[in-house]
Amino acid sequence: MDSQKAAQRVGLASDTIVIHGGKPLTGRIEVRGAKNLVTKAMVAALLADDPSTLKSVPEISDVHVVRGLLEAHGVVVTEQAPGELLLDTTNVQSAHIAEINAHAGSSRIPILFCGPLLHQLGEAFIPDLGGCKIGDRPIDFHLNALRALGATVEKLDDGIRLTAPNGLSGARIELPYPSVGATEQVLLSAVRAKGTTELKNAAIEPEIMDLIAILQKMGAIISVEPNRVIVIEGVEKLHGYLHSAIFDRNEAASWASAALATRGDIVVGGAKQQELMTFLNVYRKAGGMFDVLEDGIRFWHPGTPLRPVMVETDVHPGFMTDWQQPLIVALTQAEGQSVVHETVYENRFGFTEALNEMGADIVVYKSGIASITRRVPRRPLEQAAVITGPTPLHGADVRVPDLRGGFSHLIAALAAEGTSTISNVGIISRGYELFIDKLEQLGADFELA
Ligand code: EPZ
Repeated sequence: MDSQKAAQRVGLASDTIVIHGGKPLTGRIEVRGAKNLVTKAMVAALLADDPSTLKSVPEISDVHVVRGLLEAHGVVVTEQAPGELLLDTTNVQSAHIAEINAHAGSSRIPILFCGPLLHQLGEAFIPDLGGCKIGDRPIDFHLNALRALGATVEKLDDGIRLTAPNGLSGARIELPYPSVGATEQVLLSAVRAKGTTELKNAAIEPEIMDLIAILQKMGAIISVEPNRVIVIEGVEKLHGYLHSAIFDRNEAASWASAALATRGDIVVGGAKQQELMTFLNVYRKAGGMFDVLEDGIRFWHPGTPLRPVMVETDVHPGFMTDWQQPLIVALTQAEGQSVVHETVYENRFGFTEALNEMGADIVVYKSGIASITRRVPRRPLEQAAVITGPTPLHGADVRVPDLRGGFSHLIAALAAEGTSTISNVGIISRGYELFIDKLEQLGADFELA
């Protein structure tokens, strides 16, 4: 159901796509602002009393979800030009939990409304949270951080109510793991708290750095110190920002993998090297070719056999968990055994079942492979996928399970001989802007069912 809603939000005519594979993807596509920054930047606007302008906003359904949530809280959102949102927060007000639920669907974004709403209104509601089905995805780090900053957390039947009768105050917080969302939570809550907050073991993803840049434009004082420490000196008031979002490196890496898997040649306009360095190293080791251009990166298949690689997902500057799924499709065509350890989420290899149905040879080890030495320290939730290639892929009927897994299924169907029917593709529109148009631009052979 959520997939259909997501598809409707971005005007996608159908939730099912029929792909005739075996044809290389070639051509140029553009990536715009990162889903994982834009949605947070929209929430950051809530911290100011005057309007903010965000540029390079992609047409994805997660942006529509946040827009709906902001509007439910009295924010007036206007698209001033394509991809440019004016967020007017002059009249922020409380929203009913049912209304928040109706907009949020399975998104986890409402949790990030807490800090800004506590500052503006003294209370916040969060519904039961969803997000992609890639593990438990708890919110304990968020709630503990909010409590440390002075919030009171009350569990209700349909969600959580937070209050801060005395306002929020700076605190010393150490995250058990450098969680992206919890780091953003602390940033968005501590910027207007009384006093200084020291956050240890913070995530330092490029999207977080871009959020810090936005907050600094708004008047915040935030320093990023060595060893994952972020210090936030609270200020009383923040003003609106004008900002152009950082590019979507997850989308760029996905199209790069699509070029490799389909033996294609794709220029990803808007992609930049620095934020993709770790990905580019692995891409090169696997045999993938790339060329950094002035306004993008060209990715292509070498025309010779691909090589197997060993990868461990990790927090930045490691190999992003969101990159492994599309890359695995390309690795099914490498000569030999690749091993991918997933250390961030406990359930992110579910998508490989469909790849096996399409002819891949992927074995998932639920608790990793103990005998293999790896860069990243073992986490209790670690799993490994061993991909043995090359295996020709053939068409199949697949139902998309989540955002990144779903994009991988698309790529696999494009690389496979024969016809595949992929349903539930609305989920893909949560994070991939105009992916149907882009497939067309790259010469894919498909029709919407
Ligand atoms: C963000 O999720 C991204 N989502 C994810 O992208 C991305 O995979 C992830 O960061 C890691 O880079 C958005 O930005 C909207 P975390 P987030 O908090 O913030 C555990 C995509 O496909 N944890 O860094 O939710 C958690 O279970 C999405 O674009 C707790 O235990 O990720 C996980 O194992 C999927 N308690 C680990 O930390 C908490 O309170 C990392 O999660 C919070 C997290």
